Amino acid sequence: MCGIVGFVGSEQAAPILLDGLRRLEYRGYDSSGIAVCGDCELRVKKVRGRLDVLSELTHQGADLPGTLGIGHTRWATHGEPNDVNAHPHVSSSGRIAVVHNGIIENYMELKNQLIQKGYTFRSETDTEVVAQLLDYYYDQCGDFFEAVMCMLNAVDGAYALGIVCADYPDRMYAARKDAPLLLGYGEGGNYIASDVTALIRYTRDIAYMDDGELAILSAGGIRIYDRQMRPVEKEHHHVDWEIDAAEKGGYAHFMLKEIMEQPRAIRDATAARIQNGRVVFSDLNMTPEQIRAIGKIYIVACGSSYHVGVVGKYNLERMLRRNVEVCLASEFRYSDPIVGEGDLVIVISQSGETLDTMAALREAKKRGARILSIVNVVGSSIARESDDVLYTWAGPEIAVATTKAYSTQMALLNLLGVYFGDIMGTVDYETYTDMVRGIQALPEQMEEILLRREEIHTLAQECAHHEDVFFIGRNLDYALSLEGSLKLKEISYIHSEAYASGELKHGTISLIEDGTLVIALSLYDPLFDKAMSNVVEVQARGARVLALTIDRRAAAMAERVPMVLPIPETEPMLQPQLGVVPLQLLAYYIALERGCDIDKPRNLAKSVTVE
Ligand code: AGP
Repeated sequence: MCGIVGFVGSEQAAPILLDGLRRLEYRGYDSSGIAVCGDCELRVKKVRGRLDVLSELTHQGADLPGTLGIGHTRWATHGEPNDVNAHPHVSSSGRIAVVHNGIIENYMELKNQLIQKGYTFRSETDTEVVAQLLDYYYDQCGDFFEAVMCMLNAVDGAYALGIVCADYPDRMYAARKDAPLLLGYGEGGNYIASDVTALIRYTRDIAYMDDGELAILSAGGIRIYDRQMRPVEKEHHHVDWEIDAAEKGGYAHFMLKEIMEQPRAIRDATAARIQNGRVVFSDLNMTPEQIRAIGKIYIVACGSSYHVGVVGKYNLERMLRRNVEVCLASEFRYSDPIVGEGDLVIVISQSGETLDTMAALREAKKRGARILSIVNVVGSSIARESDDVLYTWAGPEIAVATTKAYSTQMALLNLLGVYFGDIMGTVDYETYTDMVRGIQALPEQMEEILLRREEIHTLAQECAHHEDVFFIGRNLDYALSLEGSLKLKEISYIHSEAYASGELKHGTISLIEDGTLVIALSLYDPLFDKAMSNVVEVQARGARVLALTIDRRAAAMAERVPMVLPIPETEPMLQPQLGVVPLQLLAYYIALERGCDIDKPRNLAKSVTVE
C-alpha cells in the first residue's frame, strides 16, 4: 500500500523522488515525504495530504539539495494519517532516515526496550522504531552496515525498507521481507522502488529483491547480500511497458482506458497460448501425469480475483467433472484447510502482493499442496513463491478498480480448464473447439460492446441517483453479479448487493420496494426462463429492472423490461467474459455522474499488503 522511491547518483535526488512518488499515487496514500542527504546533512520534509502539498512545501524539491534520497507515500496502518506519522522517520540523532512499507510486528516490544534505554518517540508508527533501532546499534558498533544487519535481525514482520545515513552521503541501503521492493540500474544513478511504474521514466533495467536480502546502492553500482552476508547476483528484467502505457492515453480516467484495453489484453493473454487450435501452456511445469493425478482443486483469492474464482468454480467443475472449492484468501488462511500433498491450489492475484492471498499461498504450500498462480505483475512475491505462474500480461493496471486484470485472469482460468480437461479426458472435442474458438472471438465481441458504450452511458445517467442497487442472477450470472456489484460499490459508493436470484424469496426480497433498482443478469442462456421469472418476481414488488441479456433474447426481455442491455452471444461458459464489460462501464458512468474519484476511490488501495 505504501510507495517507496530512492535514488543515488549524479543528479539532484529530490525532483526524481517527487516524480517517482507521483507515479505511485495510484497505490492509495494519505501522506508523503522525502529525505535527502547533501553536504553530510540530512534534510527531511513530510506532510499529510496529496503530493502537491509536499511539492509546494519543498519548492519542487529545491529546498533539499543532494544526490542521495528516499521518498514515501503512506497508507496508514499504525497511527493516524498526519505529518508526524508520515515517512521518512528520523532517528533521535537526526543522522538516519527510514521509509518503510509493511508492518513491524514486534515494534511495541522493541519500542519499550528503546524507551528504557532513554529513547523518546514522536510518532505512533512502527517504522520509527526502525530508525531509533538503527541509531542504537550504530552507537553501539560504530559501523552503519553492521547496524543495519543488527536491526534486520531484531525486527519481525513484513518490510520493504529504504535507509539513508548522513555519515554515508554516497550510499543507500534497502532491505525486504514480505513486501515488494525492486532495484533500478540507471545511467545517472541507481534506484529503489515499490513497483516499476515509479522508475520506467529513468530506467528499464530492474531486479526484484527477495526476502532476506540487503542491498547497498551507490552511484556506481548495487551490491546485494543475503542474510548470511553472502553476495547475491540478481536476474535482471527489461521492462517493456511504454511510459504512456502507465499514463491515461487520452482517456478521462485510467479505469476507462483499462476497460477499453480489454480486447487487446485478452488477445495478449491468450493468443500465444492457442497454437493451431490447441491450448499450449509453455509456462506450466506440470506433466500430463501430474495433471491427471491432481487431487482436490482450490481457488484462493481476494476481491475481484475471488470473483474470477467463483466463475472458475462453475466452469472448471463443468469441464473437469470434479469438485472445485473457491475460498476467500482471508478465510482460507485461518480455516485449518483440508489441503495437502497432490492437491492443487490456484492462487489469483493481479498485484501478486496481496497479503491475505500470500498468506493463504504459504499455508497451502506448508501443507504440501502445489501452487499455481495467475498473476499480472511479473516477478511479484506471489509469482515467485508459486510452483507455476501464469502471467496475464495485461500490462500495468493503474485504476484501483480492476477491469482488464479480472478479464485476463478469467480467460486464463478458462483456458486452463480446457487444457486440463483435455488431458484428464473430461472435455470432448466439441467443447474443446467451442471454447477455443469462443476465446479467440472474445476480443472482437468485446470491441462490439465497447462501441455501444454511449448507450450504457445513457442508462447509467438514468440509474445514478439510486442509493441501493441489487444485482441478481443464477449460476454464472450470479458469479458475474458479484463483480458487477463490487465495481459499482467501490467507485460510486452506492450500496449494492449481489444475490442468487433463486435465493431472493428466502428473505431478501422483503427489501424490494417501489423503485428499487434491480440489475438482472440473464446472460447464461440455459437458465433464461428462470431469469425471466425472477424479473417478473421483483417487478411485482415494484422493482425498476435493468436487464442484461444476449442479443437473441433482447426482444423477449424488452416485452417485460423497459431497460435492456443486449450483448453478443458466445459459448455459455464464456458469457461472463463479455457480460462483465457492460457492468464495468455501467459502474464507471454512474460514478462519473456522481462526481466520484474514479481512479482512486476513498479508503481503497491498488494493492492490499496489510491484513
Ligand atoms: C477490485 O476492483 C479491487 N480493487 C480489489 O477487490 C482487488 O481485486 C483485491 O484487493 C485483490 O487484489 P489482487 O488481485 O491484486 O490480489
